[in-house]
Amino acid sequence: MDAIETIYSRKSIREYAGGEIPDETLRRIVEAAARAPSSKNSQPWKLFLLRGKALEALRNDYLNGFDRGKEPNFEYVYNPERVPESYKARAIALGRAIFAHKGIRRDDTQKRRQHDRENFAFFGAPYLFILAVEKDGYALGTFFDCGLFFQNLMIAIAAEGLGSCPQFSAMSYPDILHSHIPESANLTFIAALPFGKPLAESNVNNFTTEREPIEKFFRIVDSPPLL
Ligand SMILES: Cc1cc2nc3c(=O)[nH]c(=O)nc-3n(C[C@H](O)[C@H](O)[C@H](O)COP(=O)(O)O)c2cc1C
Repeated sequence: MDAIETIYSRKSIREYAGGEIPDETLRRIVEAAARAPSSKNSQPWKLFLLRGKALEALRNDYLNGFDRGKEPNFEYVYNPERVPESYKARAIALGRAIFAHKGIRRDDTQKRRQHDRENFAFFGAPYLFILAVEKDGYALGTFFDCGLFFQNLMIAIAAEGLGSCPQFSAMSYPDILHSHIPESANLTFIAALPFGKPLAESNVNNFTTEREPIEKFFRIVDSPPLL
């Protein structure tokens, strides 16, 4: 696949088949991700891979937390205090579209909770990357660098014929993450990336999202403005 094709082939995968990913493949993915540029080549990212019993133990604690109604306690603020109307509208449209796709009615609180719960099960994925950064060493720019790394990770996963789903919701319980990830006290967790082989006959994996036409966000400036 060429780069553009691979970018188009990536989409969020929310249902997984089992199956082991060879260590060489995992290594190739992580090495490709680490080719991301970063300001002054600072490479601020830290990455953890959870699989097997370690992942099951984390999943178990996450689901127990969710089922007991544990409140999310994010380590960093994702959204601006006042979310611009255009972002809000797109978030609402996404929610509506995915619920409609899954056949979940607006008033079906049980099914909506089940939908949320799937996030806390990391969508049943057999592998989970967790991206982190040093607590004392980050600013907006560092997060930008980490975003480039994270995108490379997703694209490399897609290039290997696998699927993933970026997750901020999995950052809900940093205390649980810290207790499962050794030597992480000095780290801030940024995002999770469940991944694996996509389940083929999956309704939710057929869900596709739209994008704004580029004219909404893109301008060519090729001559100075006239006074
Ligand atoms: C930083 C980040 C956090 C996200 N968090 C979640 C999440 O917690 N749960 C989820 O189902 N999807 C999550 N998503 C996936 C987005 O909903 C998805 O990328 C977007 O709707 C576009 O769809 P696509 O990935 O299929 O192209 C997240 C995406 C990003 C980039």
